[in-house]
Amino acid sequence: MSTEYLLAIESTCDETAAALIDSDGRVRSECVATQESLHEKFSGVVPEIAARAHLERILPVIDTALRESKVPPHALSAIAVATFPGLPGSLIVGLSAAKALALAWNKPLVGINHIQAHIYACGLGVAESIYPCVGFIVSGGHTSLYRCDDPLGWDYLGGTIDDAAGEAFDKVAVMLGLPFPGGPALSKLAAQGDRHAIRFPRPLVDQKDRLDFSFSGLKTAVRYRIAGSSNPGHNAAGIPAGMAEQERANIAAGFEQAVIDCLIAKAIAAMKKTRAKRLCVGGGVAANRSFREQLAEACQARRIELIIAKPQWCTDNAAMGALAWEKISRGQFDPLDLDVQPGLVRPKR
Ligand code: KG4
Ligand code: ZN
Repeated sequence: MSTEYLLAIESTCDETAAALIDSDGRVRSECVATQESLHEKFSGVVPEIAARAHLERILPVIDTALRESKVPPHALSAIAVATFPGLPGSLIVGLSAAKALALAWNKPLVGINHIQAHIYACGLGVAESIYPCVGFIVSGGHTSLYRCDDPLGWDYLGGTIDDAAGEAFDKVAVMLGLPFPGGPALSKLAAQGDRHAIRFPRPLVDQKDRLDFSFSGLKTAVRYRIAGSSNPGHNAAGIPAGMAEQERANIAAGFEQAVIDCLIAKAIAAMKKTRAKRLCVGGGVAANRSFREQLAEACQARRIELIIAKPQWCTDNAAMGALAWEKISRGQFDPLDLDVQPGLVRPKR
């Protein structure tokens, strides 16, 4: 059978991305436009700004991915787009572009679930299927564990009851005067600190039967520590006033370690509960080096097969839209009146 091609579009939050993926799962080209500089002064993603930026970037991003792939539009088998979950305005831009191209080029449309795509990203570049597995998504919006029997079938095992792990990283980074997005910057500062100097709480870790997470109390514990080791207010650089540089690095390291311990404890508990053999981890926080290293050690000690998405496919991207091939092979296409489903994935308990 000759090779077929898919154009995938991603615009769920603040990355505008497009990718060309062939029917063997090979990524022929991809283009990701980030919006970090636009949201930095607000220390978080502003939905209206994100939607407008997607509008400006979506066509150049699709055009770049198509040109780099050298695949002509008439050779495409379908247009895929993430329609759920995400920010409403952001999702609408990606879906509208996908619909317009599907209509203009007379190609079928395939809507995909962004969280299932994050799990699927673990299998990109891996020869064998990653399913069945426990899928673990650790991102800015989600921190959730799923039993995944196949790419499109999943059962919710547990997740955060308040903030997502990435959200906690971003908020603690603001408290420490670090730039947005906070995860990478906080992790860099943590590398200068002693991760055992300050012991922050590990919420819910003692509740062994529960596969849930909670990061808001941990965030508050960091706030109190900062208040106790600095003067009120921040200096001109946004750093807590009068705080010793080593204390700041130790707070970052102690916080990062507390989050990592919670994530690893619940991932291992999910493996025990489901008796699954393979753990697949994706989402922006899965790009964190210490998390990757410590999780690899924990899995090795328990003979769990661990697959973490490659760092460039942990954060939002369109290559993970390769998931659409699974729907195409089952003949699951969507009509042109397909709508977005904004918000977060809501667990069924
Ligand atoms: O998956 P993603 O790109 O977007 C969502 O779907 O949420 O994840 C973004 C999140 C942000 O909160 C960011 O701070 C966090 O992932 N992140 C990290 C790292 N890189 C990105 N958190 C910790 N360490 C990192 N190296
Ligand atoms: Zn994401």
